[in-house]
Amino acid sequence: MSDPPIKPHSSRKLTIAIDGPAGAGKSTIASRLARKLDYVNLESGAMYRALALKAIEKDISFDDEAALVKLAQGSRIQLEPVVGGNRTLLDGHDVSARIRERDVTEGASRISVHPKVREWMVARQREMGASGGVIMEGRDIGTKVFPDAELKIFLDADPVVREQRRMAQQKIRREVAADVAAELRQRDQRDRTRAASPLVAAPDAVVIDSTALTEDEVLAQVEELARQKLSQN
Ligand code: DC
Repeated sequence: MSDPPIKPHSSRKLTIAIDGPAGAGKSTIASRLARKLDYVNLESGAMYRALALKAIEKDISFDDEAALVKLAQGSRIQLEPVVGGNRTLLDGHDVSARIRERDVTEGASRISVHPKVREWMVARQREMGASGGVIMEGRDIGTKVFPDAELKIFLDADPVVREQRRMAQQKIRREVAADVAAELRQRDQRDRTRAASPLVAAPDAVVIDSTALTEDEVLAQVEELARQKLSQN
C-alpha cells in the first residue's frame, strides 16, 4: 500500500502523540502517517514488552518494581522504524516477533503499573523523540511523555471490534480466541485503572472512534489534522 507524502508548508516538524487502547489501530495509523510525513514512528509499547521479555528471561517477578528498574537500567532497548512498524532490539538482539507472544504481552501490562518503571521508560522515550518529526504511540504519550505535542490523537473503538481486529491481526487460533479476548479486556482494565499514568485522553486530544471507520478513513482524518497543524506554522 503506498501513501503519497504530504507536502508540508513549513520545514518545522511536529510531535504527534497517538494514544488509545489495544486494537484501536494506533500502530497502523502511526506507521502510515509517518510514511506520509516522512517522520519517525515509535511504538512505546514495544519498550514495555522488551523489558517484560528480559524479566521472563532473568526470572524476575513482574511485581518486583526495584528489580525491574535495575534490569531496565542495565538494558539497551532500541526501536528501529521499518515499513509497517518498529523493529525492537533488546541488548542488540531482534526480539520483534518474540515480544508479541502472550506471556510477554501479559508481562508488559503488569510491569507497566510500576511508577519507577514508567519513569525510566518516559525518560528514554523523551530522548528518542527530542528532535521532533516523531509520531509516538502508546497510552500516556499525550498526557505524560509529550504533554506539549502539537497534535494529540486518542484513538478508540468498541471493545468487541478491537478484540476482533486483534484476532485477525495476530491470526489467533479459534481454540484460544476466548482466552485471548479475556486477556485483552483485563489488560485494558489494568491500563485504565492503574494509579500511575492511566490510559486517558489528554484534555486537548482529538478523540477518534474508529469502530465504524476503515483504516483509510481514520488515516484521512488524522492526516487532515496534521495538515492543519502544519499550515499553522
Ligand atoms: O501497545 P502495546 O499493547 O504493545 O503495549 C504493551 C503494554 O505496555 C500495555 O499493556 C500497556 C503498556 N504501555 C504503557 O503502559 N504505556 C505506553 N505508553 C505503552 C504501553
